[in-house]
Amino acid sequence: MNEDSLDLASIDHVLETTRSVRRRIDFERPIEPEVIERCIEIATQSPTGINAENWRFLVITSPEKKAVVADLYRRAYDVLSEARGASLKPTQRALADRLHEMPALILVCAEGRPPGGSAAMNVGFYGSVLPAAWSLMLALRARGLGSTWTSLLVLHEQEVAESLGIPDDVSQTVLLPVGYMKDAVLKRAKRKPSAEVTYWEHWGEPRG
Ligand SMILES: Cc1cc2nc3c(=O)[nH]c(=O)nc-3n(C[C@H](O)[C@H](O)[C@H](O)COP(=O)(O)O)c2cc1C
Repeated sequence: MNEDSLDLASIDHVLETTRSVRRRIDFERPIEPEVIERCIEIATQSPTGINAENWRFLVITSPEKKAVVADLYRRAYDVLSEARGASLKPTQRALADRLHEMPALILVCAEGRPPGGSAAMNVGFYGSVLPAAWSLMLALRARGLGSTWTSLLVLHEQEVAESLGIPDDVSQTVLLPVGYMKDAVLKRAKRKPSAEVTYWEHWGEPRG
C-alpha cells in the first residue's frame, strides 16, 4: 500500500458514518465466519497498553446462546428504561426486542479485572481494549455489516459469564450485535462543532 495514495474520501466516510444500526439489519443473512475473523484481525492492530493484547472476542452465533444473552440484555434494558422513563429511543427498544435474532453477537472482553482506585490504571485497562472494539465496528461497517456499541449487558456480567464459560478474571466490556445492513441510511451525525469541544494551549481557550 502506497502511503501517499490513501483514499482519504473513503476512509473519512467510514469514520464519519459508522452509526448505530439496530433495525436496518438483514436478520436472515448469516455472516461468514471468515469475515468476522478478518474484522477481528484488523481490530487487534489497535493500541494496547504495554503490548499486553489482553483483548478477547467472544463471537456468539448459536440461537440458544444468543437467546440467553438477549434475555439478560432485555432485563438490563428494562431496568434502565424504567429508571429513565420515556427518554430511551424506540430504536433502542427495537434492538432489545430482536437481539436474539441478530446474526452474531460479539462480546469484547479484557483479560484481568479493572484495577480500581487509580485513574491511570483504569484508563490503561479499558483503554487497551475499547479502541479495538471501535476498530472492529469500523471494519464491519466497511464490509456492509452494521453494529451498535452496547454496554448494558455488563449489568449481568456474572450470569453472562456462567452461561458462556467466561472465567472470573475476565472482564466483559461492550457487546456488538452484528448483521448485514439492509436499507440502512448512514449519515454524519449531528454533533457539536469540534471547535466548541477543542481547546488550544489552555483549558477553555479557542485556537488563536
Ligand atoms: C458507552 C456507550 C454505551 C452505549 N450503550 C448502549 C446500549 O447499551 N444500547 C444501545 O442500544 N446503544 C448504546 N450505545 C449507543 C448510543 O446510544 C449511540 O452511540 C448514540 O445514540 C449515538 O448514535 P450513533 O452511534 O448512531 O452515532 C452506547 C454508546 C456508548 C458510547
